[in-house]
Amino acid sequence: QTIHLAEYQPPSHLIEDVSLTFRLDPKATRVLSEIRFVPNPAREDALAGKADLRLDGVQLKLISAAIDGNPVDVTPDATGLTLPAALLPAGPFTWEAEVEIAPAENTALEGLYMSNGMYCTQCEAEGFRKITYYLDRPDVMAPFRVRIESDLPVLLSNGNPVAAGPELAEWEDPWPKPAYLFALVAGDLVAHIDRFVTRSGETVDLNVWVRPGDEGKCAYAMDSLKRAMKWDEEVYGREYDLDIFNIVAVDDFNMGAMENKGLNIFNSKYVLASPETATDDDFARIEAIIAHEYFHNWTGNRITCRDWFQLCLKEGLTVFRDQSFSGDMRSHAVKRIEDVLDLRARQFREDAGPLAHPVRPDHYQEINNFYTATVYDKGAEVIAMLKRLVGDDAYRKALDLYFERHDGEAATIEDWLKVFEDTTGRDLSQFKRWYTDAGTPHLKVTDDFKDGSYTLHFEQETAPTPGQAEKPPRVIPIAVGLLNPNGDEVVPTQMLEMTEAKQSFSFDGLAARPVPSILRGFSAPVILERETSAEERAFLLAHDTDPFNRWEAGRGLAKQVLLRMVTEGAAPAPGYLSGIEALLRDNGLDPAFRALALRLPSEDDMAQTLHAAGITPDPSRIHAARQDLQRALASQLSALLPALYTEMAVPGAYTPDAAAAGKRALRGAALALLTRLDDGATAQGQFAKADNMTEQLGALAALLDIGKGTDEVTAFETRWRADRLVMDKWFSLQVLYAAPEACAATAARLTEHPDFDWKNPNRFRSVLGALPANAAGFHDPSGASYRLLADWIIRLDPLNPQTAARMSSAFETWARYDGDRQDLICGALERIRQTPGLSRDLNEMTARMLGAK
Ligand code: ARG
Ligand code: ZN
Repeated sequence: QTIHLAEYQPPSHLIEDVSLTFRLDPKATRVLSEIRFVPNPAREDALAGKADLRLDGVQLKLISAAIDGNPVDVTPDATGLTLPAALLPAGPFTWEAEVEIAPAENTALEGLYMSNGMYCTQCEAEGFRKITYYLDRPDVMAPFRVRIESDLPVLLSNGNPVAAGPELAEWEDPWPKPAYLFALVAGDLVAHIDRFVTRSGETVDLNVWVRPGDEGKCAYAMDSLKRAMKWDEEVYGREYDLDIFNIVAVDDFNMGAMENKGLNIFNSKYVLASPETATDDDFARIEAIIAHEYFHNWTGNRITCRDWFQLCLKEGLTVFRDQSFSGDMRSHAVKRIEDVLDLRARQFREDAGPLAHPVRPDHYQEINNFYTATVYDKGAEVIAMLKRLVGDDAYRKALDLYFERHDGEAATIEDWLKVFEDTTGRDLSQFKRWYTDAGTPHLKVTDDFKDGSYTLHFEQETAPTPGQAEKPPRVIPIAVGLLNPNGDEVVPTQMLEMTEAKQSFSFDGLAARPVPSILRGFSAPVILERETSAEERAFLLAHDTDPFNRWEAGRGLAKQVLLRMVTEGAAPAPGYLSGIEALLRDNGLDPAFRALALRLPSEDDMAQTLHAAGITPDPSRIHAARQDLQRALASQLSALLPALYTEMAVPGAYTPDAAAAGKRALRGAALALLTRLDDGATAQGQFAKADNMTEQLGALAALLDIGKGTDEVTAFETRWRADRLVMDKWFSLQVLYAAPEACAATAARLTEHPDFDWKNPNRFRSVLGALPANAAGFHDPSGASYRLLADWIIRLDPLNPQTAARMSSAFETWARYDGDRQDLICGALERIRQTPGLSRDLNEMTARMLGAK
């Protein structure tokens, strides 16, 4: 059954307050609720006493129910229960219910469940209905009081602690919130503690709660939290609003983390870090996700979403905020490049296939299927564009107005755009298409030069996406700068505002034909198409003042080179190799930037590029060409690599800061190439000596990539067997670097490993998520990987539909490939779809993916 945005109805009733009591027991937890309902003034039928009250409730055993103290006899169905209007008192009334649930049997990890003996919750999007009967929709906001009865030592919920006794704790959250922000944690936990004093002088207790033994791995998460709190005060003027802020690390978690009010719950992977066990990338992700969840306190919690179609209202904005934060903490140039890499790899891919949907979808069957790169990452791009268009000052004013106007409300994208319209006087109706229209615009560019006047001609076009045939032109901010042939910048960055399908912009008074630098900073999430010579790209790689476009020029060159290698069997172009060499030799450049410039486009990126150019990608050939190009780079750089490797060593004890991480990244990239020259000798040495996970894992990856490292794989396992997060890396790496023809067998063998706990999402993803990430291995012509993944998705679905459905998107690219592969992939999808008792989640995903067939 499909839910449509256009059919939104305000709730029949609102909730004034909620009081919950939990008597925790693994198999028979009792939940007592006392909920004060009032008819919604916005609903005349309710005011007239003519509206039934429909409460959501799933997999609950109803023990008793009463209205204003009088027992009522109601019969729940599979999704909830209906209180007929005739049964409801006129005006406010109190609903009381007692239900029984079994957290230990909750394998879907949604609602109240158990992880390693600890109770925890995940309610977004619709998990609260698995806890008790409720109006489980985000536009119903209420203050909560929670009482937890359990003999476990640590009992947590949202808000401030108000009472504690033997085997008892009470929490009160004064801030009205929707049920999806509810949280409860109970377990044998220890806290890493700290404090934060807000700008207005309030002291906040900060706790990062983990399992005993992990307390030494919390410092970075805590430090990130304090920096995020300060940053939100300084940059957005937002202060924290409770006496206490708790973060809990949980080993079994479907997603990354969750912003429950005052009680953020995290996948332990995004909290726990030590130099020995976490890589530089892990540290960076922890910093970003801790900030993301914290920032939700204002963008998500204080102002929430009216309905789930508005998900990007909180997610796009919060991603944009965490990206800005990470840029401020580290390097904006490097962060931008990384974010664009990720956007293209996941969101452009989604936008180009059968799962394409608008940033604000207008229908869904299962909302959990829409926590996507489009909603999150394109949602953030849309905000970045808005900020570019209105300017920094207006952006800040609009945000102030947003917080002032909508605090305590459940808002919409229309509300969001309105604050910008009111602040700037701009009409944003065309801009709104970025929210309502799916697909990535292609931006074609040509140019001409005459009498000192240089003109850029743009043409935008977006291909149809499922359910959307017509794509009217959008507003596209195009940042452009012009360079002189001698390398100087003649026109610094200007923001061109394209609004038509075709539009030209001229620059006058130029002495010579300039070299254009277009879409600087990746000013809009579009695919730029311009016939560009290798010479011009090499020129920009050497001279562009915009770091993003400088990197982009190298990227474009690498793609061009790879494309010719794949399609024509050409040799790697010397111009590319020498351009990269020159860049690497430039010690004035940030090592992190150089490392990014050295990183070749991924195999999936190349498949996407070929497909967009109308060529059917052959993953085996792409893999071979990419390996050849790496060998060619290695020999081109043979004189430089050992020196670079030595120079980039970071002396002293490991620190996770951006400067040190950047040097390690460049050193690691050098090592990956060096390994192709010295048969792994340097990597073996590094593996043996490394005192940090970045270097240990980097060495192992380099060895596996040239088909070596067998002894190191064993040594790594022996050393890290007891550490779940490190073992996830061990599982992943073997699949990621398996030879294409051995990939499925490697993954299958690992699923037989005694530590392959397939019910743990991280472990499941470490093997079955790594499989599609090995592009040539996943698309091996035997079809073995497709079958293996389908088998495991079918197996996981009855237990954990959310994670099963998420993994199925590995098949979304079927239409790119040749007929044989298409048949194999669609066969796997069909087999999933035909499975009896398939979840709503997977049913929707497979139907959408096969819909185009
Ligand atoms: N709001 C969370 C976050 O961004 C994501 C939770 C999604 N969970 C889910 N089951 N859909 O950060
Ligand atoms: Zn979020």
